[in-house]
Amino acid sequence: MSRSWLVCFSALLVCLVALTQALPLQEDQDEKSVPGGRIVGGYVTDIAQVPYQISLRYKGITTPQNAYRHRCGGSIVSSTEILTAAHCIIGTVASQYKVIAGSNYQTGTDGVITNVKDIYMHEEYFSGAAYNNDIAILVVDPPLPLNNFTIKAIKLASEQPLEGAVSKISGWGTTSPGGYSSNLLLAVDVPIVSHDDCNLDYENFGDETYYITPAMLCAGKRGVGGADACQGDSGGPLVVRDELHGVVSWGNSCALATHPGVYANVANLRPWIDAIRAIIAES
Ligand code: ARG
Repeated sequence: MSRSWLVCFSALLVCLVALTQALPLQEDQDEKSVPGGRIVGGYVTDIAQVPYQISLRYKGITTPQNAYRHRCGGSIVSSTEILTAAHCIIGTVASQYKVIAGSNYQTGTDGVITNVKDIYMHEEYFSGAAYNNDIAILVVDPPLPLNNFTIKAIKLASEQPLEGAVSKISGWGTTSPGGYSSNLLLAVDVPIVSHDDCNLDYENFGDETYYITPAMLCAGKRGVGGADACQGDSGGPLVVRDELHGVVSWGNSCALATHPGVYANVANLRPWIDAIRAIIAES
């Protein structure tokens, strides 16, 4: 074989090898275009699809102004009221927060920013069971400019959701347990799990303070896994048929087939929510 043939042939080989390598590479790149991969089993959504979602940003008392970073999710209940989780805000004060509405991102200044004026945390948070009554209301000022498009209040559920009903959860939390969080807003659809099934699943988890109380609600793909909320999604919404049924609260790791995600049960906590809202309306 002449020398030029050899060069030509090896060039062809290199080319072929490069081609076969290029295909899996392409897939990798697609995955990277979603920062941090995928929410556990979810998809990139748009704030217009979940216009009640907010990002709760937090800074330490002594950290400089405007060093606020995403800490939790939350849901818009009215132009001045946000529902979030008690475990998100416990031990902090209102001035440590900003609320961002109408944005797809967990960082940056997209959307509308407002301040937290007051925090109402459930007085019986953690009483009777771990994470029991994991709910809080934030009063924001100035009021959010509800626009019926990217910034919108969600109706609160007053009855328990049906077992198996499809719920939508959303947030900027980690895309795997201990993994990276997403800068883009993600969502995932998970079925509601019955109280009894959830209690069975958590029977041997943690100490005796961990069980599923009536103030909790569970959702997840039992026996399948792969779809769940995770760290940083806390305080955010679980919505069934356009009503807020849950607030992201806790779980054993994330997206396990053996353990559903656990949520504060909005319908069960309605007496507390309504009482606090009446106090807010009067003040
Ligand atoms: N506690 C977490 C947070 O602060 C939320 C955990 C939810 N876990 C789950 N497997 N659904 O963001």
